[in-house]
Amino acid sequence: MDKIVIHGGERLEGEVQVSGSKNAALPILISSLLTDGWNTFHNVPDLVDIRTIKKLLKSLGVKIEEGETLRINAGEIGSCEASYDLVKTMRASILVLGPLVARMGMARVSLPGGCAIGARPVNLHIKALEDMGAEINLKDGYIEAKASRLKGATVYFDIPTVTGTENIMMAACLAKGTTLLENAAREPEIMNLADVLNDMGAKISGAGTNVIRIDGVDELHPVEATVIPDRIEAGTFMIAAGMTGGDVRITGCDSGYLDALIAKLRDTGMDISTIDGGIRAVGGEKIRSVDIKTLPYPGFPTDLQAQMMAFMTIGGGLSVITEAVFENRFMHVSELMRMGADIVIEGNNAVVKGVPKLKGAPVMATDLRASASLILAGLAAEGSTELSRVYHIDRGYQKIEEKLSSLGANIKRVKR
Ligand code: EPZ
Repeated sequence: MDKIVIHGGERLEGEVQVSGSKNAALPILISSLLTDGWNTFHNVPDLVDIRTIKKLLKSLGVKIEEGETLRINAGEIGSCEASYDLVKTMRASILVLGPLVARMGMARVSLPGGCAIGARPVNLHIKALEDMGAEINLKDGYIEAKASRLKGATVYFDIPTVTGTENIMMAACLAKGTTLLENAAREPEIMNLADVLNDMGAKISGAGTNVIRIDGVDELHPVEATVIPDRIEAGTFMIAAGMTGGDVRITGCDSGYLDALIAKLRDTGMDISTIDGGIRAVGGEKIRSVDIKTLPYPGFPTDLQAQMMAFMTIGGGLSVITEAVFENRFMHVSELMRMGADIVIEGNNAVVKGVPKLKGAPVMATDLRASASLILAGLAAEGSTELSRVYHIDRGYQKIEEKLSSLGANIKRVKR
């Protein structure tokens, strides 16, 4: 298995372009299931998770043409089953459930099961479809859903679930009548998806707020659409600049989606400014320790918690990091401690006492964002860090070692 080897201590400087957002691209590609004809998608990142969803769509009979852009045609759907072997590799496959029930009147989708960061239940997705009149059976580890035509309903999400909001928003587009999603998630990726669905002919308002209204229509038509930039990738590079005392311009991204991170990075002493078409992140003289609590958008993103923790391991004081979204998202802590970090976990709080320097060491990736935090730690550490199980990082970051080396990092992928 490949490894990534980093010799730390280099100051990052220069310009890097972020790729399209993984978490916007996944539901947008899947939304093509609602249409009959060729959709064209731009700025789709080349990631393992994107390849997985293309495989899943093909298994449903969807036609896909790859090239400069990605073209998808779901005119003929031959199967409504998303198998366990595909869904278990990428939980977001659950997003085919709503569109298949809406378009085909049925779906058989494997329960995704948990992952490293938590149990990741999908009960809210299922309950919402039942609220809309779907008949649901859980059998042999699969969700079997049937509905001659979904009915508009008022759906209340106990938790503002991101993919739950996306799944039901897609399903409601073709329902009979109006659906209200209350306590909906507000992430920018949901707004991107709603814009694409409206271009397809849907009638959605309120995306980005906690109440989304969808007036059902009879059919949707194919579109040409663009995936928004990846705010989590942009945030990861901003933190890299802070950890190496660097000066990095991150282009192709919208600072508007990173207010919580920018506020916190400024509190650490970084200078963050917007430049045309991007963000400039300059490391501070010293690193002040700050407290973080992850929350649904627009709160501090849980997908940047591990990266921020890496930063705080070299802060000037004590930082309390509270993970309030997932129940087990501290898998990176023990690996950071192998590099000399001083962290104590108390329930869903990690108390991070800054140390002057981390020391490079062999470490193991456990999940996507944990692997990003270990790469960041390696950039700032003395000596060399060897990261194993790099397939985790390839799920969500396109050519990360190339992008970081273009900024001056001493980082390379070693093929095993
Ligand atoms: C999305 O996951 C993202 N994935 C995650 O990014 C992200 O961390 C998460 O939202 C939170 O922002 C994609 O968009 C593909 P949730 P999702 O449903 O939708 C509980 C990454 O690193 N919950 O908002 O699965 C759940 O257990 C990934 O790119 C239920 O209890 O997250 C969690 O505690 C990791 N029942 C909380 O809600 C449900 O039916 C938020 O989960 C659904 C969720």
